[in-house]
Amino acid sequence: MSAGTENAASEVILIQDTRMEVLISEDAIQNRLKAMAAEINAQYKDSQNLVVIAVLKGAFLFLADLVRYITVPCEIEFVRLSSYGNQMHSSGQVRPVDLSLPNLADRDVLIVEDIVDTGLTMQFFTEYLRSLHHTRSLRLAVLLDKPEARKPEAKELVLDFVGFTVGNDFMVGYGLDKAGLCRNLPFVARVIQ
Ligand code: IMP
Repeated sequence: MSAGTENAASEVILIQDTRMEVLISEDAIQNRLKAMAAEINAQYKDSQNLVVIAVLKGAFLFLADLVRYITVPCEIEFVRLSSYGNQMHSSGQVRPVDLSLPNLADRDVLIVEDIVDTGLTMQFFTEYLRSLHHTRSLRLAVLLDKPEARKPEAKELVLDFVGFTVGNDFMVGYGLDKAGLCRNLPFVARVIQ
């Protein structure tokens, strides 16, 4: 899409010591993922060698649900990158924790990421893949896009499949954490400071 988020004001709730309001419900996420998967299935309908690479930790739920709606054959790989530490703002430094991947030469590669904020993490990772692997194609599927937070260094970054466009707030739930907590919430919520 970029689909907007739900408009109805929701109540402030306290979960795992964090005040938040639900922004995107479990149902809205699942409905949007079905539509995204339909776009992905159409894009890769003739592909015989799709590799989906999920970026841990945040993309674990998004990946698990999205791939169940993907009907084209695909392999699944994982990398782990870190840029937020325990803070609620990007450190500006991308820390590759685990980048082990098979040879991706001539493969169709789809990166699955939870959120693009400053864009520095995906800028780093797409440049890394382009410099080391001669992929057949390289695309990016993100659950949340926070365009207002984008840094100039990442302004060229192309998001091929976007779940929801959100404002410049700190989000938790559905894989996204605050100091390690809240990843297991089935919805996306906006943190209320
Ligand atoms: P970027 O490099 O600033 O685009 O951010 C990439 C990573 O920072 C994401 O994969 C998340 O792990 C984390 N992040 C960015 N924004 C948020 C947020 O609102 N909530 C939780 N984590 C976030």
